[in-house]
Amino acid sequence: MHEAYDATALTPMRVARLSGYIDWASQPSVFKHYPEFLFRYPFGTNPALRRAELSRMVTFEGVVGSKPYLRLNTPSAGNLHPVELYVQIRGVKGVLSGIYHVDAGANAMVLIREIERDGLEPALGMQKRFEGMLFVVSVVPFRSEWKYGDRALRYCYMDAGHQVGAVCASAAVGGHTATILSGFDADCLNRTMGFGGQEFAAAAVAIGQETERDAEAMKGGLMEVAPTDYCDTKGTIALQIAEEPPFASRSDITMPVVDETSIIKRRSARLFSPEPLETAQFEHFMHCLMQPPKPLESFAVVLQSKSLNKGVYKEGELLKEGDFADRAAALLVDQRFVKDGAVIMVFTAETFGSGELISAGLFAQRLYLEAAAMDAGFTGIGAFYDKKLQTFLGTQQAIVYVGVLGVERT
Ligand SMILES: Cc1cc2nc3c(=O)[nH]c(=O)nc-3n(C[C@H](O)[C@H](O)[C@H](O)COP(=O)(O)O)c2cc1C
Repeated sequence: MHEAYDATALTPMRVARLSGYIDWASQPSVFKHYPEFLFRYPFGTNPALRRAELSRMVTFEGVVGSKPYLRLNTPSAGNLHPVELYVQIRGVKGVLSGIYHVDAGANAMVLIREIERDGLEPALGMQKRFEGMLFVVSVVPFRSEWKYGDRALRYCYMDAGHQVGAVCASAAVGGHTATILSGFDADCLNRTMGFGGQEFAAAAVAIGQETERDAEAMKGGLMEVAPTDYCDTKGTIALQIAEEPPFASRSDITMPVVDETSIIKRRSARLFSPEPLETAQFEHFMHCLMQPPKPLESFAVVLQSKSLNKGVYKEGELLKEGDFADRAAALLVDQRFVKDGAVIMVFTAETFGSGELISAGLFAQRLYLEAAAMDAGFTGIGAFYDKKLQTFLGTQQAIVYVGVLGVERT
């Protein structure tokens, strides 16, 4: 997918083309809904399901302009949420064993199919039955392509990374470890999940343990339900996604043990106060930045700090000193609010593909949650002039993701 970097890079010309009039009335549906006749556990009715609910839920409902506004526990480029979440639950006391859709839009865990000896395990490359929860994260490119065109390819995977991070974080709340499953055949999983041509499995996460008992493949896939109310796509993004392997993490997943409150109050900072962070907070995040998950590398553009000179840093080393607030805002497609942030974090990688984008989203979810726990402000940034940012940082590596941290002004 490396060639996709150039094809989806933002230039002033491409931004001008993308920033035309958008008719929000034509936005495809953000939530997939399975038929009403299926059995469901409404959120909050079964404590054994709390971990799954915390992985994908609506945390705030309001109105912006005249449009309803929903916030989820995961952020999303443009709040378009081109992601769905499923979970197979086996052997959890008080819960029917089966494959569920985590329907955040309807606040319910919807049972798509009950399981016995059979299940998703063979499609996930496992021979034995797995007791606990097996999550599948899928991407629905049209939801993002509708607004962002070809750039949506990146946003789908970044958002999927946030979703993987959200699953790992909710596991950590309960003291459980999440394992990324890899090496399975994504086509087989897509067929088994009943995904048509507009939805694709991107990652799988296991929380629980393998048993000694053999697992059987399911007879026939799950029912097929369209993920959006309509689809009008060039089809190129779907073709590229169909070629990508499922996510395989190259690092152990470290998720902060935050509490439920931090998961629920996570939000993107929209305004920053032009002041430095408390030194302990600043140093904590600078330390996190020194250890991004492989294969990512990180740069920090320090805009204000009580303990470090302003300038561009790579792994703790000052590359160039100076006040780059205006320059940074210009490089992030003239997003002026970032000028008042404390640190602009830039994640880069030698190669560019779905794995790098998901890793960056996963890591950024951690930063969001830690910021929420510490009352700091954080936002992911997907809009940047890729080539110009590379030149500014003096790197040949692909720019994968940007985050801005600071004191939030509400
Ligand atoms: C991959 C990604 C890219 C984003 N890019 C930007 C951006 O360029 N500018 C911005 O202001 N916010 C950006 N955001 C934040 C979203 O706008 C925000 O998540 C969305 O509006 C929902 O708000 P919430 O995070 O408070 O739930 C991005 C978020 C993600 C996950």
